[in-house]
Amino acid sequence: MTNPESGWLNPKGMEWSSATRINFPPPDLYAHLMSHVEAERGLLEDYSAAAKKSPSKALSYLINLLIEDEVRHHRIFTELVESVKAKEKQWEEGHWSEGDTVIPRNDFFQLDQGDQNAVIDLTEQLIQKEQQDGHELERLQRELRDVKDTTLWSLLVDLMERDTQKHIAILRFAKKHAGRRKR
Ligand SMILES: [Fe+2]
Ligand SMILES: [Fe+2]
Repeated sequence: MTNPESGWLNPKGMEWSSATRINFPPPDLYAHLMSHVEAERGLLEDYSAAAKKSPSKALSYLINLLIEDEVRHHRIFTELVESVKAKEKQWEEGHWSEGDTVIPRNDFFQLDQGDQNAVIDLTEQLIQKEQQDGHELERLQRELRDVKDTTLWSLLVDLMERDTQKHIAILRFAKKHAGRRKR
């Protein structure tokens, strides 16, 4: 059976209704994730090789930063693959459950009003702190103007500014979903 809204497959024996949130993975997602994992593994190997034979200490240092990110990407992709696989297995076996896979489901909408408010308060405070942090980094960046082409410092501060934006995006996601009404 196909869900008329999304075109995704309906797990065996499940009835579609707006109250049932069936997070069945889109077709081919597993294959796409696996091929991405492979591509990233190749990239990681290239980075490791480049870091080892680099004639420049600066390049080795920067490549090591990239390797840290790629290792994290690899872990997250592996978790995505496991979660998608678990859902497909449940579907095949007819034991669909919305319980946790390695990546928890988006459960913000299930919280009590009090817990939702607590999440909203917490994420608002943290967003404010991240924004202050962002302003500090901007100030630091201005101080580093004179050495921005002769050191790596300005680049590193720039990367932290980008991280701060990422942290704010994560917190906004949690805040937005905690603000959704319970279904
Ligand atoms: Fe990556
Ligand atoms: Fe941060």
